[in-house]
Amino acid sequence: MLVFAHRGASGYAPENTLKAMMLAAELGADAVELDVHNVEGELLVFHDRQLAHKSSGSGLIHRKTLQEIAELRVGGEPIPTLKQVLQALNRRLLVNIELKGIGCVAPFLAQYPQYLNELGYRPEQLLVSSFNHPYLRQVKLQYPEAHVAPLLASIPEDLAACASALDAVALHVDINFISHQLVTDTHRRGLKIHVYTVDDVEDIRALRQLGVDGIFSNFPDKAKQVLAETGA
Ligand code: G3P
Ligand code: MG
Repeated sequence: MLVFAHRGASGYAPENTLKAMMLAAELGADAVELDVHNVEGELLVFHDRQLAHKSSGSGLIHRKTLQEIAELRVGGEPIPTLKQVLQALNRRLLVNIELKGIGCVAPFLAQYPQYLNELGYRPEQLLVSSFNHPYLRQVKLQYPEAHVAPLLASIPEDLAACASALDAVALHVDINFISHQLVTDTHRRGLKIHVYTVDDVEDIRALRQLGVDGIFSNFPDKAKQVLAETGA
């Protein structure tokens, strides 16, 4: 079972910073998950649209300039660009890019070839997810080789159908909505199912029993440890 370090190793280091990403690699995570926003056509790694969430700034991130963002800190750390994170990780682990903010798909579409051709990532090393399924449709239309995973924070009546419709490789689901039926339907379609956000030991064991393929954890080393103990 894959362990994604959620917003990097965010249980130990400021979330979505370079420090959290590098620590995730050191702690043995299989993958990192991060959130991106569009700032002046550049992709910045940060969770909320509101900068007051965990940063020294305030206001909406997509209304700022790159110069303004450069002055902000999250737990003492700068807010990195996606390119900085990809460069620093240097393909050591899978990167799940969550297209989060308003308009962030445009810079992603513009930069995707650079991630492959300049930074040397293969399409399967970059898993692109979003709650905004039309964004994922745009990604697949322009780059059919891209690996995408729709995010769900509910249970649709037609279960994992949205993932098949997007030619996704996986479905990413809130733990509150996981069910045997959803896991079975996702696997029947030949897709993986990854569950967020999972830090509780009993939850990790239960999800392993359910046969999910990956979990997002703020404490990736602990999750790996629990899975090792249960032979996953
Ligand atoms: O990508 C999984 C998870 O990060 C989605 O929710 O709010 O933590 O970005 P959120
Ligand atoms: Mg996220």
